[in-house]
Amino acid sequence: MAIRPVLRMGDPFLFSIAQPVVSFDTPELHALIRDMQDTMEYMDGAGIAAPQIGVSLRVVIFGVGHNPRYPDADQVPYTVLVNPVLTPVSDLLEEGWEGCLSVPGMRGIVPRHTRLHYKGFDQFGQSIDRLVSGFHARVVQHECDHLDGILYPMRIQDIKNFGYTDVLFPDSDIADD
Ligand code: NI
Repeated sequence: MAIRPVLRMGDPFLFSIAQPVVSFDTPELHALIRDMQDTMEYMDGAGIAAPQIGVSLRVVIFGVGHNPRYPDADQVPYTVLVNPVLTPVSDLLEEGWEGCLSVPGMRGIVPRHTRLHYKGFDQFGQSIDRLVSGFHARVVQHECDHLDGILYPMRIQDIKNFGYTDVLFPDSDIADD
C-alpha cells in the first residue's frame, strides 16, 4: 500500500494502450488496486486509471461520495472495473466540466455520452454489468479513456473551454489540482 506518483500530461506513457488483465484475485492485482485507492484518496480524485501510476493494465477505479471538487455532482458508487467494455446507449452527448489528476490545476468542458452500458470485472473476477447516465457515465468514460491513451483535453472541442481552475472559478474552493 502506497501513494504513488501520478504521471502528468506530457509523459508519453499516458498516450499508450494498456494491456488486458489475464489473472484475477492475485496478490499483484490487489496490491495495484490498493495503491490506486491510496493515491486517489490522497489526491482527492473521483477516479484513477492504472496507467496514471505507470502500470499498463486495463484497471480503473472510481467513486464519488461528497467530493468538494465536484460539489454539485451526483454520487457514484465506489467501483473497481477491470477490462471494461463501454457501449453508448444513445448518440446524445452532453457537455460538462472535467479535471484530471494527470492535468493538475486545470478544467475543461468535454462532450460525453449521456447514457452508457458498461461491462467488466471486479478484482476477484466477478462480472459487472451496468446501465448508467449523467455524472456516473461521464466518470466511466473519462477513466476508461486513460486505458486507450486518451486524456480529456484531447476531447475538448473549443479550446477556449480549457483553463486554470482558479481563473475559471475564482470564487470556488475547488481544490487546485
Ligand atoms: Ni483522468
